[in-house]
Order: sequence, then structure tokens, then C-alpha cells
Amino acid sequence: MSPRLPAARRDALRRRLLAWYLENRRDLPWRRTRDPYRIWLSEAMLQQTRVDTVIPYYERFISRFPDVQALADAEEQDVLKAWEGLGYYSRARNLRRAAACVVDRHGGELPRDPDALRALPGVGPYTAGAIRSIAFDEPAAIVDGNVRRVLSRWIAEPELAERDAWTLAGQLVPGPHPGDFNQALMELGATVCTPRAPLCPTCPVRTLCAAAASGHPEAFPAPRRRPAVRAVSAVSGALRSRRDGRWLLLRRPSKGLLGGLWETPSVAGDSTATLVDELRERTGIESRPGRDLGEVRHAFTHRALTLRVVELEHRGGRLRARDGEARWCSRSEVDALPLSRLVRKLIALVDADGGY
Ligand code: ADE
Repeated sequence: MSPRLPAARRDALRRRLLAWYLENRRDLPWRRTRDPYRIWLSEAMLQQTRVDTVIPYYERFISRFPDVQALADAEEQDVLKAWEGLGYYSRARNLRRAAACVVDRHGGELPRDPDALRALPGVGPYTAGAIRSIAFDEPAAIVDGNVRRVLSRWIAEPELAERDAWTLAGQLVPGPHPGDFNQALMELGATVCTPRAPLCPTCPVRTLCAAAASGHPEAFPAPRRRPAVRAVSAVSGALRSRRDGRWLLLRRPSKGLLGGLWETPSVAGDSTATLVDELRERTGIESRPGRDLGEVRHAFTHRALTLRVVELEHRGGRLRARDGEARWCSRSEVDALPLSRLVRKLIALVDADGGY
């Protein structure tokens, strides 16, 4: 059965939460604007990423790509560079593609129609709801992890299903200032109604909250079993020209993990023979494994990667990959390309080795 909040309680929750938000909201850069583009960008960046991390990225991105047209005109590499270190790079690739669609289909203005928004690459129900409510003041619901936890506590439903959370959020959002109301829900979840130790004494709606009344608000929602994180290994080769020290870097395919970012030649597993063979096949470059330089590690959502780093000695062969896929790069060119945090760690390791 889908959950319902009685109308009187719903109105009280809404009113108190909104009043609390207007007094207590954090001053965040995307809260000083109604520009749909900026709100869209902030919401894309905030998915899976903390506010403190996002702020400097948001500021830089806006000064680099100030509007939809600028983003639509940008090279994917430049957009990925502005996103470097933020993770989940498909968000950046989708934003750029979606910006081009907004220019083509909507004259450069983000649409307020839900179907038109949802037709844009990377725009799901959450982002569409956020843009519609925050930028256009439409009564569109949004549910993220914070909202789901808050709602689960208000009705003391430990197993609140995703669909039911959307239904509840949809019952709550109609009324004055739907965008502020949605942000208030997220703000409460981020700053008061936190997962492990909620600050109920400071909560504006504690007297209306069934989980607070139970005495164990932290028990809601029931902990979810997280999918196991798989340990995987790979080997990567630092290959530098003996003549001028330039690095050989390859571009990852556009789709998939770290798509479009650049990296040193790498293969799954731990075989340097495979690494040498694949590099020859992809680029025509002949190489031979040299010293072991150590390991770098990185945690992805479902994978804990250990990357073994070896020196690769250049034994000849001319680079025959297309320019967009493999390149000899001076140190300043390396720094100008979009690289993952993992590859930045690898480069720091090779720099620290110094004996190259
Ligand atoms: N997380 C997702 N959207 C947010 C917003 N608009 N403000 C703060 N945190 C958020």
C-alpha cells in the first residue's frame, strides 16, 4: 500500500520545514541564482558528491562555460578537464551533449516541460524535478538519498520503497515555494536528519516525526545491504621517450568507466607481457618492461583497484594511432589533459621515483 500523510500533518510539516530553511539555509553559490542552466549544473555535480567538494568545481565551470551555448560549443576534452577529479565522468559528457540538444531543440533555453527535460541525455526524474521546482517553481517532486531518509523517518517506515518515497514527496511539494521546499528537505537530511546521529533536538519537525517519537530515529531507514566491493588489479606502464622525456598517453573509449579520459597504457590483470602486446597492437609502439615502480590504489563505487606501475622502455616503432587516441605529451601537455585521480597518483609516483 502506498504511504499517505494526513493533510493536516502534511501542511504542518511543510510550513515548519520551509520556515526553518529560510532561516537556516547554507549560503551556496547555486542558491543565489534562478538561472536554469546553473541550477542544472549544480544538481548534476551534487549527485553522489559532497557540497564542499562541488563548490570550487561549480565556480570554475561557470566561469569557463557561462551558459548553455558555451557548453554546447565546447570540446568534450575541455569539459572533462573542468570535471577532472569530480568522478562519474558520464555526468560531464552528458551535460555537454544535453547542452547541444538544448541549443538545437529549444533555442538555448532549458525547457520547463518534464518530457522535454527527460529527453535530454543524463536527465532523469531527480534532475528534471530539481530543475522544474528550483528554477521554474513548478510543484515537481525530487527524491535523493537524503530525502528518502527524512521521509522514512517522518512516517517511521524502515523499508520505504523508492516509488513510495516519490509518491510521498509528490504529496508534500504542492504549495508555496516548491523549489525551496525541495531544497529544505535535502538540507534537513544533510545537516540535521543525518544517517547515524540525527540532531533531533534542533529539528524543526521533531514533534511531527514518527521516528523521533519511537526513540530510535537512527534505525530508519533499515540499513541496506551494499553490493560487495570487488578487488581488481591492473598493470600500467610509464613509457617516456628517451630523447625528450615525453609521456605516451592513450585516450580511453568515450563510453564506460572514466570514458574519454587519458591514461598511461594499462591492462587488467598483472601481465606485463600482455601490456606490451596490447600497446603494440593499439599504437605500433614496441616496448619492454623495466623496473617496478610500486602500486597505486583507487576506490571506485563497486571496485577497489590496485594498479601496479612499471617502467616501459621504448624499443622503437612509430606511433600510428590517430591523434585523438594516443599522443606523446610533454609534462605541460600531460597536465592539460583530463586525467583521472588514479592516473594523477600514478604520475606522482613516477615523479617521486625520479630515477627515470
Ligand atoms: N544536494 C542536491 N541538491 C542540492 C542543493 N540544491 N543544495 C544542497 N545540496 C544538494
